[in-house]
Amino acid sequence: MRTWTKCVVLSIVAAMVCGVALAQFTKPEEAIDYRQSAMVLIGQHFGRMAAMVKGERPYNKAEFAHNAAVVQMVSELPWDAFMMAGSAKGETKMKAAALTEKDKFMADAEKLETETRKLAEAADAGDLNAIKAQFNEVANACKLCHTSYRNK
Ligand code: HEC
Repeated sequence: MRTWTKCVVLSIVAAMVCGVALAQFTKPEEAIDYRQSAMVLIGQHFGRMAAMVKGERPYNKAEFAHNAAVVQMVSELPWDAFMMAGSAKGETKMKAAALTEKDKFMADAEKLETETRKLAEAADAGDLNAIKAQFNEVANACKLCHTSYRNK
């Protein structure tokens, strides 16, 4: 790898690692963009797994495991972006309750992280019945938070 490529890769990794610890958004719109982008990625890769779970597409172990790993990784990123003051207004579907019920919101977020970690493990193991059961746990974790904190 060329040096500049390494630099780019390292900065991206650094940005992701730092993003977990401290969100550096200057405006609510930036936080909204960030979290919506993360949710779009989660939704897209979740949907690809759903198609295999429902039998709309043939199950492929490597593909499923890849999607599970992406959802697991992205599900560690966006939560601080939901907590930015003033970010329940504007181009967002987040309910204002998320900001006033931070602990409960973060518990829902952690639940998703836990369940997606287990899904990634099941996906690596490759037992389709276990995968389906754990996929449903992840889907429930999505619903739990959306019911409380996302407007339709
Ligand atoms: C801890 C809370 C929480 C969890 C868990 C969660 N979401 Fe979300 N999600 C939200 C909120 C809040 C929004 C609205 C964000 C906004 O508009 O600012 C959202 C938005 C979305 C969107 C719309 C993105 C857009 O802007 O078009 C999708 C798709 C989505 N979530 C999918 C998922 C999936 C799939 C899961 C589970 C794998 C999941 N979410 C888990 C809170 C959550």
